[in-house]
Amino acid sequence: MLDPCTFVIFGSTGHLARTKLLPALYHLDRAGRLTDDMAVVCVGRRAWDTPYWRDEASKILQAKLGEALDSEVLNRFRGRLQYFRADIHDEEAFKRLQEVLETTPNFPANAVFYLSLAPTEYRPVARHLADNGLSEETSGWRRLVIEKPFGYDLEDAQVLNHSLHRGFAEQQIFRIDHYLGKETVQNVFVFRFANLMLEPLWNRNYIDHVQITHSETAGIEDRAAYYDGAGALRDMIQSHLLQMLTLVAMEPPAILDAESLRDEKVKVLKSIRPIPKSAVHAQAFRAQYGRGRIDSREAPSYLEEEGVAERSTTETYAALKLYIDNWRWRHVPFYLRTGKRMARSSSQISIRFKHPPQQLFRETQIAEIPPNWLLLGIQPEQCLRAELQVREGGIGMRTRTTQLDASTCTQTGYRLDAYEALLLDVIEGDHSLFLRYDEVNWAWQVVDPILKVWSIERDFIHTYPAGSWGPKEGDRLFEREDQKWRDSLMEENR
Ligand code: BG6
Repeated sequence: MLDPCTFVIFGSTGHLARTKLLPALYHLDRAGRLTDDMAVVCVGRRAWDTPYWRDEASKILQAKLGEALDSEVLNRFRGRLQYFRADIHDEEAFKRLQEVLETTPNFPANAVFYLSLAPTEYRPVARHLADNGLSEETSGWRRLVIEKPFGYDLEDAQVLNHSLHRGFAEQQIFRIDHYLGKETVQNVFVFRFANLMLEPLWNRNYIDHVQITHSETAGIEDRAAYYDGAGALRDMIQSHLLQMLTLVAMEPPAILDAESLRDEKVKVLKSIRPIPKSAVHAQAFRAQYGRGRIDSREAPSYLEEEGVAERSTTETYAALKLYIDNWRWRHVPFYLRTGKRMARSSSQISIRFKHPPQQLFRETQIAEIPPNWLLLGIQPEQCLRAELQVREGGIGMRTRTTQLDASTCTQTGYRLDAYEALLLDVIEGDHSLFLRYDEVNWAWQVVDPILKVWSIERDFIHTYPAGSWGPKEGDRLFEREDQKWRDSLMEENR
């Protein structure tokens, strides 16, 4: 059983809390993973009170879960919720919070402070917490969860880290990247290190290139205030996509503990060849969605979204080519891409193998044999698939591609969503799936030169119609003509 704790959410009426945190806590409650006395204190600016907030939260869960919402669990969950009205810029509010946490008889002394806030708020809130004794572990543990992006750029991340450490010890800080909580992302690790078969092939001798794609049909929703200042590179690549890259590329850790795992991920990030400013255009591409159609409905352009600056050149699509300069991966390109308002919502890792060295079938009807692929579907489909060539029946020598499917999606049983798994880890004090600062720092080093160049090139950005796979011009990142984006896990849609 978990330790009892008081779970404090800053920014509880915001997008993340509504879409991920409240549903995750509700699901954990339903699965019987929360102690009876666990309280969820929701900090918000609006002039609401606890009964009002409980009704709001019920509506949020109802809208998200529909018929799957269990009224008995909902009632229990509602009872855990407390609304704490506060302006996070007002230090007095933190004094009050401290009193409420200390004096409310049924609040457990252990506390999680989850900063589901704009990145610029992390520093002041962490400072106020510390200044008001809320980081002190006198009667129970205190943990601070920081969302991504951790800082605005390399320099800002350093300042933020330094400032957090003034009030909190490293073991109290949980830098979250929810992609590490996704089952198939964790499966990359198991797939690689629990199977011997692939290891001999998992290197520059056999792998032609690796692609990591995250696409969404959604636009920026109501997040312009954050997104227009961030962009796709900061929002997705610096964190989620680089984390997936580390899992594909890392060496096996000496033992399976948080530090050994993170040591190996850091080695990968450190080995990524720095992109000099002069190579930014050859290795990075950005674009923004224009008007288009999503699910046969008109979708506005990014510039028409509410809250976006008039001539914003913020990218909603970003693609990178990276090289990892170590023995295993030297010269193998890793292509990363992400975009909002794309043709489909999916995340996948696609690994393309090289062609066999001998053109044995040149004189037959097989003009060109497609290469082998290994496909790791992260979402919506969770799967592991290998594409192989087999002989087509009949006269003559013809081949076709077949897929060996080791999908995990057909498994039954309760599956933890990424946030559910990670919230449990915070309460259990397990740092394995959270980022150590050096990981964050090295990830910033990778993207920082690109951000710098893009920040001064504000006159032009490529556009793509909403509902497409992004602009053709982005294909210039590929090393060769036979390399192209793999949009699907299905063979026929390539
Ligand atoms: C978040 C980004 O970290 O991840 C969002 O800020 C993005 O812009 C989201 O939509 C994607 O996460 P998931 O789990 O829905 O793939």
